Parts: sequence; structure tokens; C-alpha cells
Amino acid sequence: MYQLHLNDLTIEQFLAEYWQKKPVVLKGGFANFQDPITPDELAGLAAEEEIESRIVARQGEQWLLETGPFEDYAQWGEQNWTLLVQAVDHWHLESAALIEPFRFIPNWRIDDLMISYSTPGGGVGPHLDQYDVFIIQGLGKRHWRVGMPDASLTSLCPHPRLLQVSPFVDCINVITEPGDILYIPPGCPHDGISVDASLNYSVGFRAPAQKDLLTGLADYLIENEIQGVRYTDQNRQLSANIGAITGQDLQQVRSLLQGLIDDPKLLASYFGSYITHAKHDLDATEPDPHYNADEIAEYLEEGSVLARLGGLRVCYIQEQEDSDIQLFINGMTIVLPSSAKRTVLQLSELTVLDQATAAEFAHDPEKLQLLTQLINLGYWYFIE
Ligand code: SIN
Ligand code: CO
Repeated sequence: MYQLHLNDLTIEQFLAEYWQKKPVVLKGGFANFQDPITPDELAGLAAEEEIESRIVARQGEQWLLETGPFEDYAQWGEQNWTLLVQAVDHWHLESAALIEPFRFIPNWRIDDLMISYSTPGGGVGPHLDQYDVFIIQGLGKRHWRVGMPDASLTSLCPHPRLLQVSPFVDCINVITEPGDILYIPPGCPHDGISVDASLNYSVGFRAPAQKDLLTGLADYLIENEIQGVRYTDQNRQLSANIGAITGQDLQQVRSLLQGLIDDPKLLASYFGSYITHAKHDLDATEPDPHYNADEIAEYLEEGSVLARLGGLRVCYIQEQEDSDIQLFINGMTIVLPSSAKRTVLQLSELTVLDQATAAEFAHDPEKLQLLTQLINLGYWYFIE
């Protein structure tokens, strides 16, 4: 278990002062930090077809970017390159534990864990991201500079797939050491250059843009064959100009569109499903053959422990305390009665169902039935 130390700040103070506002270095954020993964293990993940990885290298003034899978690193030499592997929490249980200390932010806002291995001089260059990130320093040291958002910065594109920014004024200039954490809000330019061979862990967040929300809504309407109400104009008057789309026409289009998102049921069902969809592949394997509920109860009573699949997104929406609960798991919706609230909290809050919790599931037929369904989807699995 990683224990987060926010220096002298409480989580409330961190949220009020820094979250989405100002970058900060949390020196020794994790005391006696132990890397959950080795560079060799990371390279092993980068060799997998279904795991997204890339190498960014600088050769003099020239930047190179190549996407994985990677088998061999000889061509990259000893310095000035970084290997970045996305969504490692989906594939590596020990690394996924690094997300847990940041769960003071709700599940739906958390995205994934990206891990980078850099050789001396390695980095992706000065850039900005659209998302909040906590960058944890593991092995080695890295020289980080971070600035405040600055509208005068211009985009640079030293490689067709690499977006950087023009030189920026820093407000943080630090050499991070194992266990140090850098918090960077969206839009803050930053640049990390590795001092020696180093590992960095980026806990990233999700903040959908209007475009994402609308495409997500459109996909939801299509998947669920929801046609919605159609445009009507019973009170049409004779038009002066047949080519014109009038302000009144547009007003009606606006109300039609707004009607969709003003429907609280539709909004909740769509958003819960949309936001719990994993962006990267999950490592879900359905057990073959499927378990039946009795078998599961037996394993649980024997003391088996269940883990939630790494990167599985679990959220819920309940309008009022006595209303039904929509439980969203990786885009799937399960409607449960309000009496299932404890089950919902257990599934959405715990990444491991320990023996005591597991026994509770084994002894309650409704809990057990739901758990059986989830285990048979490969979403929870036995670890002992
Ligand atoms: C990294 O190189 O580990 C982090 C990249 C970033 O700044 O987003
Ligand atoms: Co970045």
C-alpha cells in the first residue's frame, strides 16, 4: 500500500489551493518509495501488441517518435530517449496500486497510469496536456520545469505526432527524487529531462470536452436505438425568403437538442455508461467454463480473495436515497434496488474484496448472483 503525504496540506487544502489551479511539488509524497515495476518488466509490457507504447527520442535538434510494440532497444543507444507505456494499471496489478492513494478524486475522473522509462537526457520535450496529472518519481532522478498556463505560448510540432510548446517561464524548477510527486493542472507547460536512468509514473485524469460528450451521447442514442422527438412546425407562416433558416427555426433546434440533455434519466444513463467505458483495452478473460454461484460461494468461504480487474471503471448514480441505483461497469448498466447500496459501495470502492467482504457476498444470494455474473465476465478474479 502506498501512503500519500501531502507535506503539510490536508486533502481539502490541496483541492482548494492547487487542484486545477497551480502546479506543486510534493517532496517525499511517498516515503521510502519502492518501484512497483522494473524497467525490464516495463519493456516486457511494451513488447505486447495490445498494450499502447511509444518511444520518443531526441537526436540533436531532431525529435523521433515510434509506436510499439518494441522488441529491441539497441537502435536507440544509451541516452536521450524515453519509453512510454499507457494504461499499465490494466495489466500490472502492483503498478495499479499507485492509483489508489489518489482516490480522493472520484472514480469517473480518474483515467489511467502511464509509466515512462527514460535514459539520461530522455524526455518528451516541453509540452502541455489537457488533463491533470500526478507524476511520481520512481527510480533515478529527473529535472522538471513547470510553468503556469500562458496564452502567448505557441505550438511546435518537431515531429508529425509530437506536439510541443515554445520556451516557457517556469515557476517550478526541481530535480525529483524517488517518492517525490509533481502535480500539474491542465494547460501548464512542463518539461522533464531525465538526469539518469529513471522511471516516472503518471496518474492521469479524465475531463471530457464538449465534443467528447456529444459524440458519446450520439453513440449512446445509436446503440440504444433512441430516436427522440422530431422537429415539427405546425404553426408555420409563409416565409419571406425560402433560403433562410430563421432565428425561430434555430431556437426550435436548440430546444430539441436541449430536450435530450434536460431528460435527467437519459442524461444519467448515457453519462454513466459513457464515462465508465475504458479507453484502453482491458485484460478481461472470461473464465472457461463459467463458474456457478455455488462454486464461487465455496471458494469465498474457503478464504479466497477477489481482485477487481485493473482499470475497470465502476461508478453508480442514485437520484435519491430510496430510488433504484444504476451501477455502471465498463459501459454496462445494472439496475439494482436501493437496498443494494452496500453492495454498490463495495464494488465501486474496493479494488480487492478481502475475506470478510467476500464472506458477506457468499452468504447473500443476491450479492452472490451479481458477483457470479461479474466474475464470469472476467471483471473480478480470484487472486489466492
Ligand atoms: C513522462 O515523460 O514520464 C511524462 C510525460 C508528460 O510530461 O506528460
Ligand atoms: Co505531460
